[in-house]
Amino acid sequence: MRIIKTKNYEELSRKAADLISAQILMKPNCVLGLATGGTPVGTYRCLIEKYKRGDLDFSAVTSINLDEYRGIERENPQSYWYFMHENLFNHVNISPERVNVPDGRNLNAQEECARYDRVIENHGGIDLQLLGIGLDGHIGFNEPGPAFVLETHCVDLEESTIEANKRFFESRDQVPRQAYTMGIRAIMQAKKVVMIVNGKNKAEIVKKSFFGPVLPEVPASILQLHPDFILIGDEEAFSEIED
Ligand code: PGA
Repeated sequence: MRIIKTKNYEELSRKAADLISAQILMKPNCVLGLATGGTPVGTYRCLIEKYKRGDLDFSAVTSINLDEYRGIERENPQSYWYFMHENLFNHVNISPERVNVPDGRNLNAQEECARYDRVIENHGGIDLQLLGIGLDGHIGFNEPGPAFVLETHCVDLEESTIEANKRFFESRDQVPRQAYTMGIRAIMQAKKVVMIVNGKNKAEIVKKSFFGPVLPEVPASILQLHPDFILIGDEEAFSEIED
């Protein structure tokens, strides 16, 4: 595990975008595992700037997103399909046929999860996986549980996740209760994993995840075992960790 401490969110976003850019430059047809949430927005903004300057070419890149709410239309502004287009894909030259997000419109969980695992497998896995972390230690929507779930699966969202995500919806009642998420295997098999984390409210879970035991009750803790895991955080997110 490599830790990069940044002064603030801007620097964190630039560092993450630099790592993703390096990946695309080294392997123009790479597979990026991408994430939604508040944290990656700045990273995507930096990537768009690099693209607009002519420093990046997404034309051969494939993206495989981590997760999606179950039972949501793509056109719904709260869908992760919509989020990714709004925050990145509509602004760069990625090919629409190389964009992959679990299909929240398919209510048949078994079928959709199996399809998504095939998509990941057919691409030979992920080169660089970008992750945020939930307040309960979730990665993607891999919520705390009695065991790590390896395959893409359908999850019941934790109360704390519903509470954290309600800020994106008009009311708490509108937050979907289930989601499809890539499993731990695809994340751990990614060649490189980059996690971005900022803010005081994440300090405790950062300490628990990366300076405590590896446990399925703290899903992100498994990343301690990944051979190329880079944790980028701002000073606040690392405030519970000793230098
Ligand atoms: P956030 O979400 O970036 O909005 O804090 C992270 C996550 O839940 O994985």
